[in-house]
Amino acid sequence: MTPALPRPTEGDVVDLILTDHRLFEDLLRALRDVTSDRRDVVATLAELLVAHGEAEESKVYPSLRMKQAIDAHEVEHGEQEHAEGYQTLLPLLEAADVDSEEFSSSIHEFSETLLHHLDEEERDILNPARTDVTAYDRARLGADWAAERNRLLDEGCGSADQVRRLVRDAEKRSGSLP
Ligand SMILES: [Fe+2]
Ligand SMILES: [Fe+2]
Repeated sequence: MTPALPRPTEGDVVDLILTDHRLFEDLLRALRDVTSDRRDVVATLAELLVAHGEAEESKVYPSLRMKQAIDAHEVEHGEQEHAEGYQTLLPLLEAADVDSEEFSSSIHEFSETLLHHLDEEERDILNPARTDVTAYDRARLGADWAAERNRLLDEGCGSADQVRRLVRDAEKRSGSLP
């Protein structure tokens, strides 16, 4: 069994987000390991990916934008990368055989997509949060983000249906679906 996800309630938003990013890296490593309970790891990753990313979109990005730490393009780019994360996660959630070659290449796709986003978010969004936002505001944002993330985790947010809905919503937003 994958250990229960931590539920921090306060802290600097940059530190809190980085702690989850390390957790994503650990979970990806566990997912690559054929001796892991891969279904359990995928389920944990799905819950954390949705709770973490949706809480960034509703609590962190808009506030950093209002403080002019990031611009509309960075917000949109971050949201688009979250959607790509959900899209590449879906084949893992839907897989019939977690020991197949196909599953292994789906892990690769998802891993590349997620690691790419962690890198960009840390350079282009967390850096301005470090330099252009006060420690007081980062702490306030940290509490807001954590509360929303934990609420989503407690509610259950990473089922295949929920992830499919997020992918569809993103496709609608980007205009590729009616
Ligand atoms: Fe993040
Ligand atoms: Fe993110």
